[in-house]
Amino acid sequence: MIEIQNLVKIYESGKQKVKGVQDVSLTINDGEIFGIVGYSGAGKSTLLRCINMLEWPTSGNVKIDGVDLTSLSRQELRRARQKIGMIFQHFHLVRSKTVFDNVAFALKAAGKSKQEIRNKVDDLLEMVGLQDKRDAYPSQLSGGQKQRVGIARALANDPNVLLCDEATSALDPGTTRQILLLLKKINQELGITIVLITHEMGVVKEICDRIAVMQDGKIIECGEVYELFARPEEPLTRSFIDSVLQLELPEHLVKNRRGTLVRLQYRGEAASDTVISDMLQSFRVKGNIIHGKIEYIQNKPLGILVLELIGDESEVKRAIDFMHERTGGLEVIEHAA
Ligand SMILES: Nc1ncnc2c1ncn2[C@@H]1O[C@H](COP(=O)(O)OP(=O)(O)OP(=O)(O)O)[C@@H](O)[C@H]1O
Ligand SMILES: [Mg+2]
Repeated sequence: MIEIQNLVKIYESGKQKVKGVQDVSLTINDGEIFGIVGYSGAGKSTLLRCINMLEWPTSGNVKIDGVDLTSLSRQELRRARQKIGMIFQHFHLVRSKTVFDNVAFALKAAGKSKQEIRNKVDDLLEMVGLQDKRDAYPSQLSGGQKQRVGIARALANDPNVLLCDEATSALDPGTTRQILLLLKKINQELGITIVLITHEMGVVKEICDRIAVMQDGKIIECGEVYELFARPEEPLTRSFIDSVLQLELPEHLVKNRRGTLVRLQYRGEAASDTVISDMLQSFRVKGNIIHGKIEYIQNKPLGILVLELIGDESEVKRAIDFMHERTGGLEVIEHAA
């Protein structure tokens, strides 16, 4: 378990003080895939780098399995760090070394024997699907292959935690998907806790269990991915989610409406529910379906529907209240003029 308590990181350059992370407290459970999202400069990398003390916190602490990393000696910290793997957006491979040697490097540093190293590297390359690239140099690899080497290297010392800083941001969508599947496999088969920074909600939707949304060095919202998708509270979270749900209505559909446009979100169990036909039977309103889809988030359906309601104002209002209660997620997009 990773416990971050009141973490503050202030960068000082000359007279200037820049707040990287401001008072973040967070618990990441064993075996989960935890996402950190936010715009550029929100403090995501700073927070991640404080988890393995690549950045030393200004105040607050980070405990991994009960051990406070800020209290360790250099040597103890070096040992603790071996159990925290990290991968990067731009891979950070050593260009003059082969794939084998890039992965072996961390094992040599940990003092393993030649035979142990050979066996381990072969296993790791098999795990990431790169046995045939054993003797290639990084320049001979595609981006996806480079990241696979990065992952193999990060796993060399059997870490409990894998930190990923925008690990798929330099990759095309197809390659991104493959790397995400590999991370999921690592999480499931090896039980490694993964903390992953991304600015793509598609990545979050694909593999994360929980996420934290960061803004100005703070966590503004945190929770299970499905719950946040179903009911985001903060506008920023909402805008991140909308970017992946792609439920923008064309302008001409929103304007020139006779009725009231509402957007409903309903959870899996309610997807087959009769909320809309019940509403139409109970109130003197007519309903037009303008847009709708069902998204699958962690294999759970989330229904999204845009409806136009036409009728007397008071009836429309009662119909909205009714659906609001039944679905728990309803937003009025636009009232008729
Ligand atoms: N080494 C540093 N020295 C001074 N300021 C820094 C340093 N690293 C980060 N910062 C500042 O801390 C804040 C948070 O930066 P951070 O890199 O954590 O953001 P981020 O969310 O990872 O952004 P991005 O999505 O662009 O990677 C920013 O204002 C940044 O300018
Ligand atoms: Mg960053």
